[in-house]
Amino acid sequence: MNTNTNIAPTANFDVEKIREDFPILQTTVHGRPLVYLDNGATAQKPLAVINSMVEYYKGYNSNVHRGVHYLSQKATDAHEAAREGVRAFINAEHTHEIIFTRGTTESINIVAHSFGKAFVNAGDEIIITAMEHHSNIVPWQMLCEERGAILRVIPINANGELILEEYDKLLNERTKLVALVHVSNTLGTVNPVNDIIAKAHVVGAAVLIDGAQSIQHMAVDVQAMDADFFVFSGHKLFGPTGIGVLYGKDKYLNAMPPYQGGGSMIKQVTLEKTTYNELPFKFEAGTPHVEGIIGLGAAIDYINAIGIDNIAAYEHELVAYAVEQLSTIEGLRFIGNAKERVSVLSFLAGDIHPYDIGVILDKLGIAVRTGHHCCQPIMDIFSIPGTVRASFAFYNTKAEVDALVAGLLKAKQMLS
Ligand code: ALA
Repeated sequence: MNTNTNIAPTANFDVEKIREDFPILQTTVHGRPLVYLDNGATAQKPLAVINSMVEYYKGYNSNVHRGVHYLSQKATDAHEAAREGVRAFINAEHTHEIIFTRGTTESINIVAHSFGKAFVNAGDEIIITAMEHHSNIVPWQMLCEERGAILRVIPINANGELILEEYDKLLNERTKLVALVHVSNTLGTVNPVNDIIAKAHVVGAAVLIDGAQSIQHMAVDVQAMDADFFVFSGHKLFGPTGIGVLYGKDKYLNAMPPYQGGGSMIKQVTLEKTTYNELPFKFEAGTPHVEGIIGLGAAIDYINAIGIDNIAAYEHELVAYAVEQLSTIEGLRFIGNAKERVSVLSFLAGDIHPYDIGVILDKLGIAVRTGHHCCQPIMDIFSIPGTVRASFAFYNTKAEVDALVAGLLKAKQMLS
């Protein structure tokens, strides 16, 4: 478990009350109360988030940064307040270091494209890890192919932890960028990003941290971490889909060329030549996802009201309980047993195919993800077709863990 979270949630953390904020948690599936354990794929949305977007459309729908009229000013203020909310949430130094994107995948692709153009040449090296999501593998493979650079991979051990001695051997003066996941979406492993970043900086390499599965579970401070880039998605943070964040240190963002051309990202356009806008707008071509940004701002306000440390402490207890209860099932095998682990548990039950378990759990109203979780290299390493993955959020309960265990026992009985 993540040792940073071995404190108890404060007494006013009331999970039943919190659940009332999420309308979907009151629904039934196949006539059973919904047990939603697929938070790693996307998290549910509290009313505060849903209402913030309805209010925008009903009361002040307008484009941003383009009009002197009242509605446009109001939308622009809400949009920029959300940017400041993101800055404070991850403790970035400057608001202009927060770029809005479509999600984690687009954020990584922007860095691969623009950092790649500015800083990566033939013979340079990029380091990733064997536990990356496809979205933190493929853009680097594409970049390496285009620039003649070389991709290096930090291997993992049988518990699903990085083998850091191998990282030490891979780092050298040709390393231009290290890109790795903060929390594995498949194994739940929390990587020691502070140490990894510090070592990369010794050789002058930049580091991108994929925070898609960490931002919702623990406090993130990009300055303390000293990350050069930190990326995440709104929809896994209880916000809407289609919105994400690219945090980058301004020394890098200023040196990188734009990703897309269009409106907003320009200072001056003539038919002969264009000059580009300041940060963050240089990387935000076109009309932004205004309601998504407002919804993300509302999600962050909602989390701040509960307290991310309360969330981390509650989830720590919940996941410890889940590990204990799942371990009582004969033949259940965890894929990933890292010492530092948060809210994602992947497992197999005997030789039953994960898909079959997923289908039976669904009939019982329990939503889990099955398959390779967009991490085929991890499946290859463990020589398995996929896993069953239960991924938790702060609105899940011990009773839901019990329902999962009962569902698994039933699935085993039916399928063995
Ligand atoms: N990357 C998301 C997941 O892990 C979709 O399920």
